[in-house]
Amino acid sequence: MLVRLMYASRATAALADADLAAILRTSRAHNPAEGITGLLCFADGVFVQVLEGGRDAVNARYKSIVQDVRHSDVILLSYDEITERAFPGWTMGQVNLHRLNAALLLKYTETGRLDPYRMSGAAMASLFQEMCASGAIAVS
Ligand SMILES: Cc1cc2nc3c(=O)[nH]c(=O)nc-3n(C[C@H](O)[C@H](O)[C@H](O)COP(=O)(O)O)c2cc1C
Repeated sequence: MLVRLMYASRATAALADADLAAILRTSRAHNPAEGITGLLCFADGVFVQVLEGGRDAVNARYKSIVQDVRHSDVILLSYDEITERAFPGWTMGQVNLHRLNAALLLKYTETGRLDPYRMSGAAMASLFQEMCASGAIAVS
């Protein structure tokens, strides 16, 4: 049984490129063995992550992620049972917002700025799908 979980959170301290790279390295080291795929987006001090995989694996990993002191204010945006993965190609793909078309962001947001605290889970999921289609995801 597959699920897709999406959450947002705020980085607790200014996050350097090396810190983000370390998070992605850990993710890419753990996730394949756990059957987890997904995307991580970091912009303006805010993370949005989508995790897909078996229910037990995703739930367990989410619990450990929530306890990570590198972020706080974790909000669950969506949690769905799914029949297929939307992002099977990424052990943890990194979203590069600079590669995004401004009109695409405006399509799903109030002001054209990515603020998941003011977006529905459904809008965020659609935006992630379009990011993939438009090549805004770095190779994992
Ligand atoms: C925003 C964010 C996203 C993360 N995503 C993942 C992830 O997808 N997979 C993962 O294994 N760890 C991820 N981590 C790291 C975990 O919080 C945790 O440090 C790591 O899973 C330690 O796992 P362990 O206790 O099983 O060794 C993330 C951390 C942060 C701050």
